[in-house]
Amino acid sequence: MSTATTPTAYNYKVVRQFAIMTVVWGIFGMALGVFIAAQLVWPQLSFDLPWLTFGRLRPLHTNSVIFAFGGCALFATSYYVVQRTSQARIVSDRLAAFTFWGWQAVIVSAIITLPLGLTSTKEYAELEWPIDILIAVVWISYALVFFGTIMKRKMKHIYVGNWFFGGFIVTVAVLHIVNSMAMPVSLFKSYSIYAGATDAMVQWWYGHNAVGFFLTAGFLGMMYYFVPKQAGRPIYSYRLSIVHFWALISIYIWAGPHHLHYTALPDWAQSLGMVMSLILLAPSWGGMINGMMTLSGAWHKLRTDPILRFLVVSLAFYGMSTFEGPMMAIKTVNALSHYTDWTIGHVHAGALGWVAMISIGSLYHMIPKLFGRERMHSIGMINVHFWLATVGTVLYIVSMWVNGITQGLMWRAVNVDGTLTYSFVEALEASHPGYVVRLIGGAFFLLGMFVMAWNVWQTVRQSKSTEAEAAAQMA
Ligand code: HEM
Ligand code: HEM
Repeated sequence: MSTATTPTAYNYKVVRQFAIMTVVWGIFGMALGVFIAAQLVWPQLSFDLPWLTFGRLRPLHTNSVIFAFGGCALFATSYYVVQRTSQARIVSDRLAAFTFWGWQAVIVSAIITLPLGLTSTKEYAELEWPIDILIAVVWISYALVFFGTIMKRKMKHIYVGNWFFGGFIVTVAVLHIVNSMAMPVSLFKSYSIYAGATDAMVQWWYGHNAVGFFLTAGFLGMMYYFVPKQAGRPIYSYRLSIVHFWALISIYIWAGPHHLHYTALPDWAQSLGMVMSLILLAPSWGGMINGMMTLSGAWHKLRTDPILRFLVVSLAFYGMSTFEGPMMAIKTVNALSHYTDWTIGHVHAGALGWVAMISIGSLYHMIPKLFGRERMHSIGMINVHFWLATVGTVLYIVSMWVNGITQGLMWRAVNVDGTLTYSFVEALEASHPGYVVRLIGGAFFLLGMFVMAWNVWQTVRQSKSTEAEAAAQMA
């Protein structure tokens, strides 16, 4: 074996840094999630302090879980996968280090500015223009590192996981730059260059594709590497994976208007968004089935391998949320679900069940390899984490379904004389038990993350002591 293909020839330092920060930001972002969930049960928890209000902490939660936790997981796994499947070291260690420190700087800026109320007000793109510029610079550097490494590859073929990572990197760059175009009026205030319905359309073209590419395509890149690796089987159908890639990226991009049903957006655009969303079910399920079927002949491994359980259950939640999404995109269904907790349930079926679970499974696979250990410190604790995460997710989404449908039905109920049957406050009161159950589910999920942090810490600590032992023996 040439030195270029030995694990030591890869740049694992940057992967280790991103992997550890995934756990740190995961705990931070989910703790915020639990806190804002508690605020919806006990509103007095904002203590009358502006920076602790729900309105300011909610975007901090979404930014921390999507961009800090999810982002670090994507950086870590894409750098790991691209090196191993290209059998080449990262093209530039310095540029890769810049992406790490630059991304952490973005996150810290978000943690400072969002509680201060500095926001562009665009959902999932709240950060103000100087931070947006930093994001663009870091992201372009990421693209240079990723595609530069692909160009250095030792074999002709580009593994399908890299196609998904590559598609995600290019699309997110385009989405971020186009949607963040703004006119600065001061260091911390800018106004979007788009106006009215155009602004809304650009925003939800961005918003939906942030889901499609940030929260889906990148994590599918993870799926195509870590599921076959952990199952010890080749991907079920390589041909299907290629069809999956092209179908997914060409359909996702049109579905954004389903976020703007019954608005000032032209009717034809709303219908186009609805139809494209329904078609999206096919590639989504094609990918899910491809991942699941990779386990044919290896299903028995699920009995003993909790990492594989994380990966497979994440695919089940992916299948579930990508069935639910197209249903919610149907205009008449959306008339009931929009503005209600049903949307929040759908979001977290994808976010906790799919995004977080696939990331956690991939990290458990990767961390021992990154720190020169054979396996994680405690397999039993991975199993405990698995159950905490699964039960937590189920409690979260079931309570939000019940709340969402209750709210939707109560809001539209009318008496014979045409007046509303229920006041808004009555619907809110009916939602209270659901908020308590969601809080418990969220706390379960967060507890699992602490179990993971302990397990990772023990694994890393032993790796250091093993290195020290080896050095002492050599001395
Ligand atoms: C312990 C786990 C979590 C808890 C307790 C939690 C809780 C919450 C709460 C209470 C909200 C506000 C809901 C509302 O406005 O009514 C929210 C919103 C949101 N969360 Fe989480 N969350 C968790 C994990 C995550 C993760 C891991 C992600 C993404 C990877 C995520 C993504 C989001 C998004 C995108 C929204 C905004 C949804 C929308 O605007 O429709 N959350 N979360
Ligand atoms: C075939 C795939 C999917 C389709 C067609 C779809 C469709 C939808 C629809 C119709 C809504 C409600 C829009 C509204 O009433 O405002 C929605 C909201 C949302 N979905 Fe999905 N969804 C899909 C998959 C996913 C996945 C896998 C995730 C997460 C990983 C996700 C994350 C979200 C988020 C964050 C929102 C809330 C956006 C907001 O209002 O802030 N979706 N989706």
